[in-house]
Amino acid sequence: MSEHSIHSVLITGGAGFIGSNFVRMMLDERPGARMVNYDALTYAGNLESISDLEQNPNYTFVKGDICDGELLRQTLQAHAVDTIIHFAAESHVDRSILSAAEFVRTNVLGTQCLLEAAMQCGVKRFVMISTDEVYGSLGPDGAFTEETPLAPNSPYSASKAGGDLLCRSYFHTYGFPVIITRCSNNYGPYQFPEKLIPLMIIKAMSGEKLPVYGDGMNVRDWIHVSDHCRAVLAATERGRPGETYNIGGRNEWPNIGIVKELLKILSQPESLISFVKDRPGHDRRYAIDPSKAERELDWKPRIDFAEGLAQTVAWYQSRQPWWQNVMSGEYQQYYEKNYASKMQ
Ligand code: NAD
Ligand code: DAU
Repeated sequence: MSEHSIHSVLITGGAGFIGSNFVRMMLDERPGARMVNYDALTYAGNLESISDLEQNPNYTFVKGDICDGELLRQTLQAHAVDTIIHFAAESHVDRSILSAAEFVRTNVLGTQCLLEAAMQCGVKRFVMISTDEVYGSLGPDGAFTEETPLAPNSPYSASKAGGDLLCRSYFHTYGFPVIITRCSNNYGPYQFPEKLIPLMIIKAMSGEKLPVYGDGMNVRDWIHVSDHCRAVLAATERGRPGETYNIGGRNEWPNIGIVKELLKILSQPESLISFVKDRPGHDRRYAIDPSKAERELDWKPRIDFAEGLAQTVAWYQSRQPWWQNVMSGEYQQYYEKNYASKMQ
C-alpha cells in the first residue's frame, strides 16, 4: 500500500455540498495539514456551510475559478500545495439539460486547466472526484465496476466523463500522479435543495407537493456524504496513482421508496406525492460495486441508511436558517459581507 502524507492540500469546490463536508472532516481528522479551499462561489457555493471553520489557522479561502490558470499557479505556489482534491463542478443533471455550456467549461476545460497548473507547480497527488454517472445506465441486474465501459447519457455526465478521461490521460502521457474516484448518490447535511432528498424534505415539511419524475422507479445507490468523504481521504492517502476507485454504499432504492421513507419520518401523508413529467434521457438504474475500494483502501461505509436518513431529516429541521438563506438567495451575500469588504 503506497502511503501519501498530506502537508498542504488545495480543495476545489469546498463551498459545495460534498466539498464543505470534506473540509470539515479534514480539519478535524488531519489537524496538522494546511488547507486552501478554492471555490468560484457559483449558485452552489455556500460559505455559510463552513463559516464556523474560518478561524482555524490551517484554513484559507480563495475565491477563484478553476479556469483561471494564473490564479491557480499563484495559489499553488504561495501555499506550497502538494495535494489537490478536485470536487469543483457543475453538478446538477437537470440544469445540464437546460444549458450544457457551463458544464463543459467547468467540468472539462476547468479540470484540464487545473491539471496543467498542478503539473507545472509540482503537485505530488491529484484526486479527481468523478461520478458513477459516467458509466451510464444499468438494466435490472449487476453493478458498475471500474472496468465497466463509460457511456454517459446526460450533458452533466458527459462533461464529467471528459474531465475524468483527461485525468487518466495526464497519468498515461505525463506520469502525473492522478487518482480517480467514482461515487454514487450522496445525501446528508448541507446539500443544495435542488437535489432529490433535501428538496423532498423541505417540500414535505412545508406540506407542498413532492414532484417525482416519471414512474418513480428509477433506482439510485445512496451513500452518506461522510462515508464518501472518508473514502476520498483514504484514496488520497492510500490509493495507487493511475487507479480508479468506485465508491458506494450497496444501498439501492427506487426514488419512490426514498420519498415514502421521508414522508414516514416527517409524519406526512403520501397524498403529497405528485408524479410529474420525466427527466429527458433519465438513467434508469445505478449501482456501484465498491469492492476494490474496500479491498485496497481499508475503507468501508459506516452509516446505516435508516439512521443516516433520519439524521438528515433532523438536520434540515433544526437548520432552517441555513436552507431559508439558500431559498432567499441571502447566502450569496456572505462573501461580500465577510471577505470582500475586509480586503478593501
Ligand atoms: P455542488 O454543486 O454542491 O458543489 C460544487 C462546488 O463547486 C460549489 O461550491 C461551486 O461554487 C464550485 N464550483 C463550480 N464551478 C466552479 C469553478 N469553475 N471554479 C471553482 N469552483 C467551482 O456539488 P457536490 O454535490 O458537492 O459534488 C461535488 C463533486 O462530487 C462534483 O465533482 C460531483 O460531480 C461529484 N459527485 C457528486 C455526487 C453527489 O451525489 N452529489 C456523487 C458523486 C460525485
Ligand atoms: O450518481 C451520482 C450523481 O448523483 C452525481 O454525480 C450528481 O452530481 C448528483 O446530482 C446525483 O445525480 P442524480 O441525477 O441522480 O441526482 P438528483 O438528486 O437530481 O436526482 C435523484 C433521482 O431523483 C433521479 O432519478 C431524478 C429523481 N428526481 C429528482 C428531483 C430533483 C425526482 O424524481 N424529482 C426531483 O424533483
